[in-house]
Amino acid sequence: MSSQSRRMVVTSALPYANGPIHIGHLLEYIQTDIWVRFQKLRGHECIYICADDAHGTPVMLRAQAEGVTPEVLIERMKIEHEADFADFVIEFDNYYSTHSEENRHYSEYIYQQLKSAGHIRTQIISQAYDPKAEMFLPDRFIKGECPNCGADDQYGDNCEVCGATYAPTELKNPVSVVTGETPIEKDSEQYFFKLAEYEDMLKTWTRAGHVQKEIANKMDEWLDEGLKDWDISRNAPYWGFEIPDAPGKYFYVWLDAPIGYMASFKNWCDRNDYNFDDYWKADSETELYHFIGKDIARFHTLFWPAMLHGAGFRKPSAVYCHGFLTVDGKKMSKSRGTFIMARTYLDHLNPEYLRYYFAAKLGPGIDDIDLNFEDFSARVNSDLVGKLVNIASRCAGFINKRFEGRLGRSISDDSLSRQCIAAAEGIATAYENREFSRAMRDIMALADRANQYIDEKQPWVTIKDEARHAQVQDVCTIGINCFRQLVILLKPVLPRLAAAAEEFLNVDALMWADLENNLLDHPINRYKPLMTRVEKVLIERMIEASKEDLVKEQNLKAQSNDPSIEPIDSEIAYDDFAKLDLRVARIVEAKRVEKSDKLLQLTLDIGAETRNVFAGISAAYTPEQLEGKLTVMVANLAPRKMRFGVSEGMVLAAGSGGDEIYVLNPDDGARPGMRIR
Ligand code: 2FM
Ligand code: ZN
Repeated sequence: MSSQSRRMVVTSALPYANGPIHIGHLLEYIQTDIWVRFQKLRGHECIYICADDAHGTPVMLRAQAEGVTPEVLIERMKIEHEADFADFVIEFDNYYSTHSEENRHYSEYIYQQLKSAGHIRTQIISQAYDPKAEMFLPDRFIKGECPNCGADDQYGDNCEVCGATYAPTELKNPVSVVTGETPIEKDSEQYFFKLAEYEDMLKTWTRAGHVQKEIANKMDEWLDEGLKDWDISRNAPYWGFEIPDAPGKYFYVWLDAPIGYMASFKNWCDRNDYNFDDYWKADSETELYHFIGKDIARFHTLFWPAMLHGAGFRKPSAVYCHGFLTVDGKKMSKSRGTFIMARTYLDHLNPEYLRYYFAAKLGPGIDDIDLNFEDFSARVNSDLVGKLVNIASRCAGFINKRFEGRLGRSISDDSLSRQCIAAAEGIATAYENREFSRAMRDIMALADRANQYIDEKQPWVTIKDEARHAQVQDVCTIGINCFRQLVILLKPVLPRLAAAAEEFLNVDALMWADLENNLLDHPINRYKPLMTRVEKVLIERMIEASKEDLVKEQNLKAQSNDPSIEPIDSEIAYDDFAKLDLRVARIVEAKRVEKSDKLLQLTLDIGAETRNVFAGISAAYTPEQLEGKLTVMVANLAPRKMRFGVSEGMVLAAGSGGDEIYVLNPDDGARPGMRIR
């Protein structure tokens, strides 16, 4: 075991405050949390820092859609995010927000440093502007037809159908996602960070072991293409920090987001009496690690080191990228129910199942990780329940019932224990190098040996022979000690199971160094099941619940894009729907209703009979426009007595609740009286 204690700061990417945490996010937080817990277990100082990424247009628009201020939204999101993380046993030393005074301070400071060293310039550029919303539009808020393949409804930066990337100005028939208006081009002055001036520094940094080889290759490509200056400003209205001395201009969210790592750390330092500069000064001897997804590598491996360097701070020791999460080999899908929110998972399944499953699949590279629920159940059931927990449950009963809960004074054979110790250094190296899948494989191989040992010794047979009782205590003491070692090795992955095991073993919090010794002549507690099998029905329920989450989210989207679109009502059973008798009707006559400025009186032919219906549609139609038209009516609505007569049904029309009304028309060929099915 490494003897010298290291001092490390570790971060995960800061999740946006405009939406909930989902299992795709969790891959990263679980990976980082395992690594941090491993470092702490080894006795190192390791401070795990995170925060909500609270600024930017999507947060601003979501707050508007919800009718709240951005401050209210980000506060609520932070509470939700923190609860999700805590319930997945992800233990940050500090979880903060980029909308903080510390972050304003460091953002302004870094900007001023860069500016005074001549690394900032301004330029007038032309950008897409929504004249109705009176705002500039980020690429993601413009949609149109792909200039390459013609696919409809594609974002302003890339096409999800053919994969082409382009500028939003190249989209055909572009519309603003905010209002549906056609964007116009508008000039404004923007602030640029002169990234190209850091080319030499970045070339050296890239090849000095700070990034994985796949990322270094990618960086070479970017460096070969030539570094473009980076636009770090946005025009009002924008939710973020206003740039000092530049009224109406704000820092782009991606400028202050990584600075949020520093700000959250500063906040922790102030509360724990630590010296911030020790960790961030240019020649700091401490280590700094960022865990991120491969999609945001550019921000962390080009812009961020350049900003830090330019402002006189240290650069990261390493940036560790991971791949994306797929489910059943495909991108997570809302309609398939595989876009699973953290909370939906937690409502159904044990978080440590997922922690273990991710650990069993994670390697040091940037390959995507697939979550397959059959494999998930099989691994958890076989490895954790069938192998690990089984060791304790097989041995505990004998110790508790036959030996007054006391482990033996000595053991006759320490080969299992020595095998664990011998494997531990390799397992530690695997954890350190983020080869978690290798670590899990090695640990499970040890669990197999322990189970084989118990199988061979057959304590359930030996116990029948009074003369061989001591042997049972010996075997079970060996088994439980091996279980204890396995718990230490798995503690970074399964902190809750480890805590329950410590309680059962009646010991203080276990450390890596405790692998070396055995628990002898020691009272243990009653054994309670440490983990139960994954039940298939719970997975099915979680997937169903995820499909329902989709409806909720669609409602919110509809609200944010078009205020006239109302949320979808709660579900009804099919039987309720089937009670409606909807018929094609021909409007044979339409008349104004005297003394009513809303109603038209319609005579509807529904095949077998005619109906008299009063419809509130006169703001949108004259009687002449309606006569002869086909429409759809509810034919079995109980007659309603109105001031002007009895209404015998209802005509279907779409509308926003105001004067915008569209009477529904069946396609050509439909005949009066036909039933709508
Ligand atoms: O991609 C994202 O989700 C960003 N919110 C990550 C920010 S990481 C850091 F730079 F703050
Ligand atoms: Zn395309």
